[in-house]
Amino acid sequence: MSTTTLHSTERSLSALDAIFTRRSVRAYTKQKLDKPTVRALLDAAVQAPTAMHEEPWEFVVIQEAAALKRYSDRAKAIWTAQAADRLPSDDRFEALLADPTFSIFYDASTLIVICGKGDGPFVAADCWLAAENLMLAACAMGLGTCCIGLGVPAMNTPESKAELGLAHDVHAVAAIIVGVPSGAAAPVPRKDPHIVYWG
Ligand SMILES: Cc1cc2nc3c(=O)[nH]c(=O)nc-3n(C[C@H](O)[C@H](O)[C@H](O)COP(=O)(O)O)c2cc1C
Repeated sequence: MSTTTLHSTERSLSALDAIFTRRSVRAYTKQKLDKPTVRALLDAAVQAPTAMHEEPWEFVVIQEAAALKRYSDRAKAIWTAQAADRLPSDDRFEALLADPTFSIFYDASTLIVICGKGDGPFVAADCWLAAENLMLAACAMGLGTCCIGLGVPAMNTPESKAELGLAHDVHAVAAIIVGVPSGAAAPVPRKDPHIVYWG
């Protein structure tokens, strides 16, 4: 399998194409993303709207396989420890957590964690808008992404924050894997918008 780097900064899809074709990708090739590609995604992320122009985001990029495994294992341990609180229990989920070969990051080559600085009322909103920009930009560049909510608590432990150099007032908000899809993601339909008022 090729492990050559990928440098993909073409803008090939319209915004609407990217919105309608983006799907969560959970199977990736081993192809690495090079620095210009990751940088292009971060540049797209920070074009998001930001309340009071605060730009409260900071970014962590993890590409080293051992680190990805370490954070996946840490996340699995956290969710396993909370199994008793999950009612009704989800046998498939518990089995996945117990499977040593399962990575919560689906063996993607890159994890980008969008972190929020401070506890202002719009920090999370800003970070999620940046996350969506990043995912749509990746889609337009032919890359796959998936939000990994399962990974966020593991990034916010004191141990992880120290390893990643996150200040005490900075916390992980959105964890997004990025990579080269190994196949086409299945379509995921949506319900029509439920309009409760149109005055
Ligand atoms: C906040 C958030 C957290 C998510 N966490 C996970 C996750 O931990 N693992 C996963 O496989 N997918 C995760 N997803 C992806 C959703 O399952 C996916 O977006 C949803 O099924 C709709 O599919 P689509 O993204 O292909 O349209 C998450 C999505 C969001 C928005």
